[in-house]
Amino acid sequence: MIININSLTKKYTQGEKSLSVLDRLNFKVEESKSIAIIGKSGSGKSTFLSLGAGLDKPDSGEIIIHGKDITRLSENELTQFRAKHIGIIFQQFHLMQNLTALENILLPLEILGKEDALIKANEQLAKVGLSERGHHFPHQLSGGEKQRVAIARAIVTEPNIIFADEPSGNLDDQTGEEVMELLFELVKHSQTTLVLVTHDNELAKKCDDIYLLQEHKLIKQ
Ligand SMILES: Nc1ncnc2c1ncn2[C@@H]1O[C@H](COP(=O)(O)OP(=O)(O)OP(=O)(O)O)[C@@H](O)[C@H]1O
Ligand SMILES: [Mg+2]
Repeated sequence: MIININSLTKKYTQGEKSLSVLDRLNFKVEESKSIAIIGKSGSGKSTFLSLGAGLDKPDSGEIIIHGKDITRLSENELTQFRAKHIGIIFQQFHLMQNLTALENILLPLEILGKEDALIKANEQLAKVGLSERGHHFPHQLSGGEKQRVAIARAIVTEPNIIFADEPSGNLDDQTGEEVMELLFELVKHSQTTLVLVTHDNELAKKCDDIYLLQEHKLIKQ
């Protein structure tokens, strides 16, 4: 299992109030599978994804990714682990605004100290069809182009897993479809595991399995 999550519990506490979002949730994924996570707004999909990607810590439970319980890693270890094994794509792109498209793709390669980083980044830029846009800053790119940069950045390190949180949510229908097709194609070719949060049932059906986040747990559909 590339992902093995056991008894995951997450609450948000504000003052006296405590909001239980995930409660003893279990989730397992085999290598190279694509998984869609659906569920109504506020059910905890983004919370789940940030925990899986190691961006946030749970209250309890194990998150074993590629054989390692990431809840036990220090911040430094986690940064390295994430750079090596995990790619993340957000709805709001989250590109570094002061870096060009090419530099955004270079960044994770540099964190890993990869040889031929510039060559790899340029190759990946070409694969997402943006060779002509390498020196553009994010504000000089369209939404679809920004998301293609984000996809390139997520996949350039050949991660074991990509976590994507509504990657087409901020794009018009056609651009969203094109971006998702590109993502599916890249994932298939690299045998990466994909965990995709989506509101779109048609998109969810393109994945190997669908899970519904409901009542603090993930339920296979
Ligand atoms: N940092 C936070 N502090 C307090 N409460 C939070 C925080 N982040 C999220 N929540 C609450 O936790 C619940 C789950 O939020 P989450 O963003 O995971 O939902 P979601 O399923 O991704 O929703 P959407 O489909 O609208 O993106 C919501 O009720 C939200 O208000
Ligand atoms: Mg969300």
